[in-house]
Amino acid sequence: MISVRGVRKAFGAATVLDGIDLDVHSGEVVSILGSSGSGKSTLIRCMNGLEKLDAGCITIDDFDVSRPKELTEARKRSATVFQLFNLYPHMTAVQNIALAPVEVLKIPPKQAEADARALLESVGLSARADAFPSQLSGGQRQRVGICRALAMKPRYLLLDEITSALDPEMTSDVLAILAKLASDGTTMVFVTHEIEFARTISSRVVFLDKGQLVVDLPTAEFFAADGGMAKPRIAQFLSKMRKD
Ligand SMILES: Nc1ncnc2c1ncn2[C@@H]1O[C@H](COP(=O)(O)OP(=O)(O)OP(=O)(O)O)[C@@H](O)[C@H]1O
Ligand SMILES: [Mg+2]
Repeated sequence: MISVRGVRKAFGAATVLDGIDLDVHSGEVVSILGSSGSGKSTLIRCMNGLEKLDAGCITIDDFDVSRPKELTEARKRSATVFQLFNLYPHMTAVQNIALAPVEVLKIPPKQAEADARALLESVGLSARADAFPSQLSGGQRQRVGICRALAMKPRYLLLDEITSALDPEMTSDVLAILAKLASDGTTMVFVTHEIEFARTISSRVVFLDKGQLVVDLPTAEFFAADGGMAKPRIAQFLSKMRKD
């Protein structure tokens, strides 16, 4: 499991994560909601060992991401996909996907390429397997990004607003893939502004507000809060998101 304990992170004088506790168990799909600037991306970056924590501890299957030796193990178990496509521009879709399995997992290149092609087929992109990122649409690039993460056979998938730069049609292509992964039992932590989608696929919803994790509820309960009986802050957030 992923365990986040008492995590604090400040940039200069600004405290961005203010004592976060969160557990993600195998098979769970946890969505992280919250306004812009509430600390969602920073939390994902901390989980991936990209930010140094000021306090607290994050472990992935008991490997502490703040210890360089353990971070390597933690990263073998979790893969991250970011909002902005960060594919290597000089490599084709297949090459982008096969790179880490060959370099890190020591899978023979031929096998890694065959695996990459199979992954691309599973996201409807077999015809674009040999295209370079510049020859792909945003939605196609993001699907390649997901395949690249999946090629590492991660136990956990961390996704940070991977559809926010896409138009609605491409968004629905990418969300369909996430829905399939969720129904296959992939453990996912994902930051999203797609409220209705979060409601459909997550088992739990976490709500960040100004660097604090103010709500952590089963999905049905979180959305029931909308009805007015629970925290006004969630109701306010949900009504604003639905208007946007
Ligand atoms: N490297 C950095 N240096 C300084 N401040 C930063 C840095 N990264 C993030 N911040 C600040 O930390 C706060 C939280 O940022 P973060 O990117 O985690 O928000 P977010 O919840 O992901 O927002 P959004 O929904 O807009 O993506 C913001 O005020 C941001 O400006
Ligand atoms: Mg963000």
